[in-house]
Amino acid sequence: MLRDLIIPKGETRYIFFGGKGGVGKSSIAAATSTWLANKGFKTLLVSTDLQKSQNDIFGQEFGSEEETRVEGLDNLMVINVDAKESIRKHQIEVLKKIDSIRGADWEIRFLKEYWEKNPVLPCETASYNVFVHYLNSREYDAIVFDTAPGGHNFEMISYPWRHLDRLRKSILAKREVVDLTGRVAEIELLEKMGEDNLRAIEALSSESTVYILVLHPELLPVYETKRIQESLRPYGISIRGIVLNQILPKEFCTNAFFKARRALQEKYIAIVRSEFPEIEIGELPLLETEVVGLENVKRLSELLYG
Ligand SMILES: Nc1ncnc2c1ncn2[C@@H]1O[C@H](COP(=O)(O)OP(=O)(O)O)[C@@H](O)[C@H]1O
Ligand SMILES: [Mg+2]
Repeated sequence: MLRDLIIPKGETRYIFFGGKGGVGKSSIAAATSTWLANKGFKTLLVSTDLQKSQNDIFGQEFGSEEETRVEGLDNLMVINVDAKESIRKHQIEVLKKIDSIRGADWEIRFLKEYWEKNPVLPCETASYNVFVHYLNSREYDAIVFDTAPGGHNFEMISYPWRHLDRLRKSILAKREVVDLTGRVAEIELLEKMGEDNLRAIEALSSESTVYILVLHPELLPVYETKRIQESLRPYGISIRGIVLNQILPKEFCTNAFFKARRALQEKYIAIVRSEFPEIEIGELPLLETEVVGLENVKRLSELLYG
């Protein structure tokens, strides 16, 4: 059952939702975190969505500086991670690290200039900070990620791997120089960053991290799922859950138009179920309302997890 994937088992559970824009990721991330909080798990919902969907869903302003409690729920906190803010914080953090390491003045100056100019993609830096910080956090029972739009949203997951690769290469290159000159400052910095990354990677590829894909049961969802599975394979990550969202409720499909539409959806649901027997599959009906307000979020969560 899909429910078994999201329930924490002893250690912090990380839950990622991916899928195309508009399929229902933010709504389902909200429903999932609400369900877990109601079950007594200390839960954090991390949103990197520039549109700040979670503010609209819960009807509340969530900050980007710190986690905000959801009104009317004891165990749920939300944070809107702001990409620009995140970059600024990241740079300040790196500059602090540079200050804290040993090295000659000119070296520290060089490192600072290098980092101030260092062109890092905004999205990647944002995800880097979010990942490294929260993937090392043991404060919560569950952390649900509502990821930024763009691609299929799992793409940014590869960032710590790619970053680690770059770090390792620079460490190797610089070690040769160190042997000649005895300069250790930069290497210490790179090694610290490498360790942070490694821990993030361990969390990302551990059993307690789950990747759930949200799909409409229409338009070749099977190909999309296979493509995403392939792109995650090099990282040892597999999709363990699928939510088929916005299924037309059978009781209302009484005329020819809706009957045909429903039949189409049923065809795709059957294909997804037979193609991916190893994946837990959940189904959600199309509601007559938008998923706005705690009551609707709870309703969605009951429909999905019971
Ligand atoms: N099962 C559903 N029934 C009715 N409306 C839904 C359902 N799931 C999502 N929605 C609505 O669809 C729109 C897009 O959902 P959203 O969660 O923002 O998608 P995403 O985060 O993938 O872009 C929102 O208006 C949301 O309220
Ligand atoms: Mg969204």
